[in-house]
Amino acid sequence: MGQSEGRLQDQVAVVTGAAQGMGAAIAGRLATEGAKVVVSDINLQKVMDVAERINAAANSSTLAMRTDVTKEDEVAKMVEMAIEHYGTVHILVNNAGILYPTRIDNVTKAEWDEVLDVNLNGSFLCSKAVLPIMKENKFGRIVNMSSSAGRSVSTLGGVHYTAAKAGVLGLTRGMAKEVAPFGITVNAICPGLIDTEMARENCSPEQLRAYEESFPIPRLGTPDEVAQLIIFLATDAAYITGASIDINGGDLMM
Ligand SMILES: NC(=O)c1ccc[n+]([C@@H]2O[C@H](COP(=O)([O-])OP(=O)(O)OC[C@H]3O[C@@H](n4cnc5c(N)ncnc54)[C@H](O)[C@@H]3O)[C@@H](O)[C@H]2O)c1
Repeated sequence: MGQSEGRLQDQVAVVTGAAQGMGAAIAGRLATEGAKVVVSDINLQKVMDVAERINAAANSSTLAMRTDVTKEDEVAKMVEMAIEHYGTVHILVNNAGILYPTRIDNVTKAEWDEVLDVNLNGSFLCSKAVLPIMKENKFGRIVNMSSSAGRSVSTLGGVHYTAAKAGVLGLTRGMAKEVAPFGITVNAICPGLIDTEMARENCSPEQLRAYEESFPIPRLGTPDEVAQLIIFLATDAAYITGASIDINGGDLMM
């Protein structure tokens, strides 16, 4: 599909945690669909490499910046940069996340706070920062990255990860109800095991194979499959808000 035929032509999108994995795939799809994309991550070098790759592949002008989603001032700067470069923000994908497999007896207060901070508080801060411009536009699309962990219990992560991802679902529903009158939708994606660094770093190849064999669709999901679902939610064809959408090969049927 050429850039001029994209479903998100000239929409402005911000993706957090975009230096690898799903964030990078989501940013790539958004650019292919014609959006102007800001990719941000705590890892500047890697997110700059992602922007360069996307620009070469999609003939776009993706902008990379370092943003720690737990820092309110950095989040404000990210949104300011998007507005300065592209005039506005239509789409926000709250994708940044971290996971530790720590069992509860060993979860320190500091580790608990860190996991809640990145996965849940970061989504709150970034959403709050884009809402004024979305309200002004009377249009917006916010997609929050939860997990099967948020719907049930985490396969790989500890209690803090499950709690944070369940919190993301509550944040999604609460915001969705408040901002619907402004033409803004807010939805959450709940992936099962997706083939990214996060999954591979927390699971041996043997464990991953065993998980795959247990799924009704017996393989891991791909980052691009998640990206394609997000693209649909970002279009104005999606009469969907406040939803928690599973994408897990049938691992969790609710
Ligand atoms: N991979 C899976 O199986 C899976 C399943 C369900 C949900 N998820 C969720 O999907 C999202 C993406 O996961 P992934 O597998 O691509 O992970 P990943 O670890 O490959 O990528 C996460 C990115 O977030 C960035 N990041 C971490 N802390 C940050 C911070 N404070 N500010 C900004 N960026 C930060 C990292 O640098 C990294 O680039 C996460 O929210 C994750 O919890 C992943």
